[in-house]
Amino acid sequence: MSALDRNTQVAVIGAGAMGAGIAQVAAQAGHPVKLYDNRPGAAAQAVAGIDRQLARLVEKGKLPAGEREAIVARLCPADTLDTLADARLVIEAIVENLSVKQALLHELEALCADDCILASNTSSLSITSLAAGLKRPQQVVGMHFFNPAPLMALVEVVSGLATDPAVAACLYDTAKAWGKQPVHARSTPGFIVNRVARPFYAESLRLLQEGAADCASLDALLRDAGGFRMGAFELTDLIGHDVNYAVTCSVFEAFYGDFRFQPSLVQKELVDAGRLGRKTGQGFYSYAEGAERPQPTELQSTAQVASCVIEGHLGVMQPLVERLRESGIAVTERAGNGVIQVGDATLALSDGRLATQRAREEGLRNLVLVDLALDYSTASRIAISWSADTTREARDQAVGLLTRAGLKVTAVADLPGLVVLRTVAMLANEAADAVLQGVGSAADIDLAMRAGVNYPCGPLAWASRIGISQTLRVLDNLQRSYGESRYRPSLLLRRCEAQGGNLHD
Ligand code: NAI
Repeated sequence: MSALDRNTQVAVIGAGAMGAGIAQVAAQAGHPVKLYDNRPGAAAQAVAGIDRQLARLVEKGKLPAGEREAIVARLCPADTLDTLADARLVIEAIVENLSVKQALLHELEALCADDCILASNTSSLSITSLAAGLKRPQQVVGMHFFNPAPLMALVEVVSGLATDPAVAACLYDTAKAWGKQPVHARSTPGFIVNRVARPFYAESLRLLQEGAADCASLDALLRDAGGFRMGAFELTDLIGHDVNYAVTCSVFEAFYGDFRFQPSLVQKELVDAGRLGRKTGQGFYSYAEGAERPQPTELQSTAQVASCVIEGHLGVMQPLVERLRESGIAVTERAGNGVIQVGDATLALSDGRLATQRAREEGLRNLVLVDLALDYSTASRIAISWSADTTREARDQAVGLLTRAGLKVTAVADLPGLVVLRTVAMLANEAADAVLQGVGSAADIDLAMRAGVNYPCGPLAWASRIGISQTLRVLDNLQRSYGESRYRPSLLLRRCEAQGGNLHD
């Protein structure tokens, strides 16, 4: 363990939302912390703000009163940069501007001891660029907290080209000692989270643009079937479309226009209109007083379904069989290709082809495709789509079966990969490419997505659950359907399938 000793002087520069939160985290961990901001009075205001936050925790019984006093006593607003000279770790959280941050690092390098760690909380700038031109670039490292820093567990410890591995290791251990969940990342656009999360927003935006379903239905599917805390539209409304769109544009440009990261015209239009989300009272949803939240659509069935036939193993969808049985449906199992027969309908997990295409290619009549769920035994909602020649009666029987098992059924248009499956396949694809390119380890990337953006399962672990071959098939079919490089599968998935290996090896 190479964590900094608790008595080591820490300095935080920038007393905005992030700097104040980081200073609080360090002081709570026991460090004396100096907080500096070039806006006169800002640091003192931030310390007063932290004191108010801690007072609320004391009121709720979550913090002993004495602790509050001790933490605040360790926080010292600094009037000038010079007074930070004795810090062993400086974390800057100033304005997101390369030349301003570089100038600050130059000053700090001249001011602080040779072994002082110079950490940046930047979310989008290259650590390599920040360190360029310094005498001791090996001391510069990213320490990327998530907002709000006192509550969010994840810290990305980001190494640039010149970062000394011992410095990154020390910061990793220090973050751990502060009660955080650190991961190592190489300085590449978006680091881990802001890169791997892009498809979460992008696929919903694309589905909306192509008329798959309305916002409320797509959000409900990601929540109720996918197990995500929020759908992409409610989440981007919360983040702010200006912020979310800017991150997408910056990652897209940084990857030389790779279509994987292409921004969405749908989101751009919201930004152009000033519909930035909750903060302006209107985004995808209205937050005006009294505005009613639109409800997801739900199919109803008049079919009285009493039995079904399971043909073969359903793969990741297999837990549905037990659920059907428990709901009183007579289930017969026989050999086959992993489909469910109910009345005239054939239900199958999507493999990324259009229902209409798959029905024709496999000679299936009345095909109804089922979306991915995080857990088919507990999901409360599921998406279906159907082929152009599926009869209304057959669809009714399929809906009747799923409804009887306690699932709300939401229809989406016949688009490849439905909603959750396509989102998860693309998240796993991006995570796989990040592993392939040495941005982080598979374990760290999965951890980052769980701790940083609260995903219910790491994307790579999820792909393994679905099956690497099935995930790859979905991506191949998406790419075939769209003919776009956006959906090209990662070489790591291809290699893993060929070797019969594990993504976490
Ligand atoms: P903010 O605008 O709330 O705070 C920035 C503070 O830095 C201001 O108080 C400003 O007066 C001060 N400042 C600006 N230039 C300075 C300088 N040269 N010297 C000293 N103080 C200076 O910004 P926020 O949101 O706290 O972001 C700060 C940094 O953290 C940025 O690099 C941002 O990209 C990063 N970040 C932000 C996240 C967020 O959700 N807001 C999440 C993770 C990282």
